[in-house]
Amino acid sequence: MNSFDVIVIGAGAAGMMCAIEAGRRGRRILLIDHAEHPGEKIRISGGGRCNFTNIHAAPKHFLSANPHFCKSALKRFSAADFIKRVEARGIAYHEKALGQLFCDDSSRSIIEMLTDDCKEAGAELRLSTSIGTIEKTADGFALETSGGALACSSLVIATGGKSIPKMGATDFAYDVAQQFGLHIIEPRPALVPLTFTSGLLEEMKALSGVSTEASVSCNGMAFREALLFTHRGISGPCILQISSYWREGDDIAIDLAPDIDVFARLRAARQTTGKLAPQTVLAEFLPKRLADAATARAGLEGRIGDASDKKLKVLSDAVKQWRVKPAGSEGWRTAEVTLGGIDTDGLSSKTMEAKETPGLYFIGEAVDVTGWLGGYNFQWAWSSGWAAGQVV
Ligand code: FDA
Repeated sequence: MNSFDVIVIGAGAAGMMCAIEAGRRGRRILLIDHAEHPGEKIRISGGGRCNFTNIHAAPKHFLSANPHFCKSALKRFSAADFIKRVEARGIAYHEKALGQLFCDDSSRSIIEMLTDDCKEAGAELRLSTSIGTIEKTADGFALETSGGALACSSLVIATGGKSIPKMGATDFAYDVAQQFGLHIIEPRPALVPLTFTSGLLEEMKALSGVSTEASVSCNGMAFREALLFTHRGISGPCILQISSYWREGDDIAIDLAPDIDVFARLRAARQTTGKLAPQTVLAEFLPKRLADAATARAGLEGRIGDASDKKLKVLSDAVKQWRVKPAGSEGWRTAEVTLGGIDTDGLSSKTMEAKETPGLYFIGEAVDVTGWLGGYNFQWAWSSGWAAGQVV
């Protein structure tokens, strides 16, 4: 029998949640994925421990051309609702920082919870299956797949965004959306390391591997978390966060010592420990290699006792107001998520159904709703999948 009430394409976070909810309502569900295993991004997420939600998840943590679109789904299936499922399953978890919840053991326990729930809800899972054509029929949709022809009344597209093509990410959701007349907001890599120009890279070469807490800002947003110098440029949570707000050609402002009045510290050291080199004073609160690089960038040499206020200000600014123009980002290869995607204008925020094509739904990362780093993107996948699962 190749006819189903609901076909969900994409057995990731959103697709599995939708299949569970619809299956529990007694719908006959087929969940299809071209990968060999379901939930591969869940498996690799959070360093293998899946940062499965954020207890503070709220609409303000999401970027979208329509910032109101995510509100309904997030409210109706919240972080607390997902946490209840994790607790009922007996999965041990902990808060790492900033409300981010991680599994104590392995992200596989989340995948197992979802696949068991799918099974219990009666949803059939077909892996290693690719989709050819999709056509609208009088009473639903007809699909050509590598496993034969299929039909359904409701079709849910949950194939995610473009990040990490090596893991099977495709443009599929955008192609289907366009086939049915929906608009796409240009997808761009987000939560992604930023790269330096070759000149800056040469100057910063010695810093590769250095990590420090920093405050970064760009286009009116600021994040304060760890910053990591890499052999390509800069990364770490604060850079991944700001990458969602950065655009080509923009500067980002970096404060490498957010709690410290560096100018005051340098002036005080000039009085009390004038024989020290400026970088030795900076190294009291910065990693040594970073202190050396900032001092070299400010062009300071000799003893701090001989430096004028003007020179100390230049050095302080090199630490507190470092302005960098990234050359670009590391792109889809390492981006955690996709910014942009299917324009929410064409979708119902309550059900995720395409306004002009009844029976067609888009959920998860494919939609133009992108969370900050810290469990927000999975929460969007759970919430949007749940919302569609109530009605498909
Ligand atoms: P998801 O990508 O999970 O699933 C899409 C499914 O569709 C996949 O199974 C794929 O194989 C399938 N598919 C794609 N194209 C297809 C096609 N043409 N035909 C058939 N099937 C197709 N978020 C978070 O909140 N906390 C975290 O800790 C992390 N960590 C993290 C680490 C890394 C390295 C990455 C890359 C991403 C994260 N994320 C994250 C982001 C999170 O993984 C992401 O936002 C969700 O997985 C999105 O869920 P979806 O179900 O929408 O897509």
